Amino acid sequence: MSKILVTGGAGFIGAHVATKLLERGDDVVIIDDFNDRYDPRLKHLRFEHFFSGSLKPKLVTGDIRDNDLITKLFDQEKFNHVIHLAAWAAVQTSIDNPYIYTSVNVDGTVNVFEAARHNDVKNIVFASSSSVYGGRDKVPFQEKDDVSRPISPYAATKAAGEIMCATWYNLYQIPISALRFFTVYGPWGRPEMAIFKFSEAILRGQPLLMRGHQTMRDFTFIDDCVQGVISALDHPHQFSIFNLGESDAVPLPRLISALEHSFNKPALIQEVPLPPGDVPRTLADISLAQAMLSYQPVTKIEDGIAKFTQWYKEWYIPNFLPDLTNSL
Ligand SMILES: NC(=O)c1ccc[n+]([C@@H]2O[C@H](COP(=O)([O-])OP(=O)(O)OC[C@H]3O[C@@H](n4cnc5c(N)ncnc54)[C@H](O)[C@@H]3O)[C@@H](O)[C@H]2O)c1
Repeated sequence: MSKILVTGGAGFIGAHVATKLLERGDDVVIIDDFNDRYDPRLKHLRFEHFFSGSLKPKLVTGDIRDNDLITKLFDQEKFNHVIHLAAWAAVQTSIDNPYIYTSVNVDGTVNVFEAARHNDVKNIVFASSSSVYGGRDKVPFQEKDDVSRPISPYAATKAAGEIMCATWYNLYQIPISALRFFTVYGPWGRPEMAIFKFSEAILRGQPLLMRGHQTMRDFTFIDDCVQGVISALDHPHQFSIFNLGESDAVPLPRLISALEHSFNKPALIQEVPLPPGDVPRTLADISLAQAMLSYQPVTKIEDGIAKFTQWYKEWYIPNFLPDLTNSL
């Protein structure tokens, strides 16, 4: 049995990852500060939903920037592995408030990495992002592509995180995998993501703001992402970077059609320009993760959206949009 720290474990990806680890018998500790970047009630409800049964992680409510807390935690718990997911995510808010992004995503990451190297951690998995590829036109994105031209503070902090991964590996030989996630979605996701906004607009019969009809995203279903994260945990590779996408560039109209089909309601589409910071298209070349991690995503967008909308109707609407209950 491994003892694993999951930072950001009350978050979307973290809660799913921690659940899988507990199911296979690992000992899991979560640290999360339940901050209000998005409604913390969703973080608490998610935590309760995933962990109120017999499989429970130990929960530490706190901030990864708190050096004393992190030092004591590593000292006491003697982790073998760290999955570092805690971060301020999302591109647009990073343009409005870059300071919190550098503080948490860069300084906080240094805290975690320093504690890990002082405590003989065997390997680290770090959450990077497809946003590091910037606004490039050439797809698919490959790990060896130049990522020195980010177009948002968020992307810059993730690129900085990857460079720190390389540095801590070079200095201390802790195997570290930096995983570039490509727009992960699914049940218990993050409410500021387009899929949530589109869903609400469709159900309210309000205009759905589509950011460019040629915009394409490689949407990755949460179960596929979790498979990649756990595989990276189980297969340490010195310092490595892996794309974890679905390997399918989905134009926004296809995503909207899948939502219309699942909700059985038409969308009123209003096209708006792509805002600064948003990239026009993403598509992952996943051949490296396939070869090195046996990563094999299997969920088509239409199937993933059906699972998402089922959850959205059952959990999200009653708890967060109760006035829409009768519209279902
Ligand atoms: N979901 C995606 O599409 C996606 C894409 C690319 C990268 N990522 C990265 O994956 C990771 C997880 O993303 P997510 O979608 O689950 O987001 P999320 O916001 O749901 O999860 C992040 C969690 O970290 C916690 N956190 C933030 N700052 C903290 C701090 N200072 N101390 C302790 N906890 C803190 C938050 O409370 C939250 O629960 C993030 O690093 C994110 O940047 C996600």
